[in-house]
Amino acid sequence: MSSLSSSEMLLSLLFMTSLLAASAGNFNHDVEITFGKKLVKIVDGGKMITLSLDNCTGSGFQSKTQYLFGKFEMHIKLVPGNSAGTVATFYLSSQGQWHDEIDFEFLGNISGQPYIIHTNIYSQGQGDREQQFYPWFDPTTSFHKYTVVWNSQRIILMVDNIPIRIFNNNEAIGVPFPNSQAMKIYSSIWDASTWATEGGRVQTNWTEGPFTACYRRLYANGCVDSSGSSSCGSSESTDSLISSTQSWQNEELNVEAQKKLRWVQKHFMVYNYCTDFKRFRYIGLPPECKRPRFLQ
Ligand SMILES: *[C@@H]1O[C@H](CO)[C@@H](O)[C@H](O)[C@H]1NC(C)=O
Ligand SMILES: *[C@@H]1O[C@H](CO)[C@@H](O)[C@H](O)[C@H]1NC(C)=O
Ligand SMILES: *[C@@H]1O[C@H](CO)[C@@H](O)[C@H](O)[C@H]1NC(C)=O
Repeated sequence: MSSLSSSEMLLSLLFMTSLLAASAGNFNHDVEITFGKKLVKIVDGGKMITLSLDNCTGSGFQSKTQYLFGKFEMHIKLVPGNSAGTVATFYLSSQGQWHDEIDFEFLGNISGQPYIIHTNIYSQGQGDREQQFYPWFDPTTSFHKYTVVWNSQRIILMVDNIPIRIFNNNEAIGVPFPNSQAMKIYSSIWDASTWATEGGRVQTNWTEGPFTACYRRLYANGCVDSSGSSSCGSSESTDSLISSTQSWQNEELNVEAQKKLRWVQKHFMVYNYCTDFKRFRYIGLPPECKRPRFLQ
């Protein structure tokens, strides 16, 4: 048996990792357009993609690869000015009626009024776990980073590395958790004027369209799922090399991160399904809502 020394192994691992990262990552290669082709532009040699919405259609794309767990990031600059009625998205989803889904949705607003960062988590076709936040920055003047960490113990949603939401694996108390269906990465922009802005009261002003959101630096460091077998690696839509540490597999909120999450929830949370007693008055709050905040 030929045995490699640990430093040789590390070297070859590093080499493989950089190959993976260097050869991967480009909107030209990594995604396919799902709708509104004429309103999608891939620019900057594949490093950026813009999605637009006009009075006829929205647009969107999905990753070619599907993943079972991983860390996924996108830098997004949202529709500026009057974006009322528009919804831009970045989410993960599996297929079918019993699908799993992890959502970031950005609800536009009239000029000068705040966006809403809408989040939801579906397990086995069941959603109804919305949490909404105001951003603590203007999401339309520059790119901000939106992150989904998804491992077998928890889901963490982050904005510019600040956790805004955690959803733990609470299968032990009967809450289904997404852990068996592979998901693709999706982004889109669509017309939600019937519900998005103050329940449909504020309509999209089409003469101000088309409305455009910009997406950059899609980063996926996950377990690639191809027909049942999964292997882990990373890709990023830039030509920079990144390390492919698998730290997301055990990622959790340390004390510092818990403090940040508490700050976001205290100052920027708009809606939390776990405190919506009226909505759940007949069936009771979902079981995870009865657990302490960081265990929900
Ligand atoms: C839009 O702005 C209004 C007024 O500030 C606010 O109440 C609302 O939550 C904002 N977002 C949406 C999506 O309506
Ligand atoms: C829609 O936008 C146009 C152009 O900015 C403006 O002239 C018009 O008043 C707007 N319509 C409404 C209903 O606000
Ligand atoms: C809506 O789209 C049609 C073409 O599909 C165009 O003729 C019309 O001017 C558009 N209206 C607005 C308000 O942008």
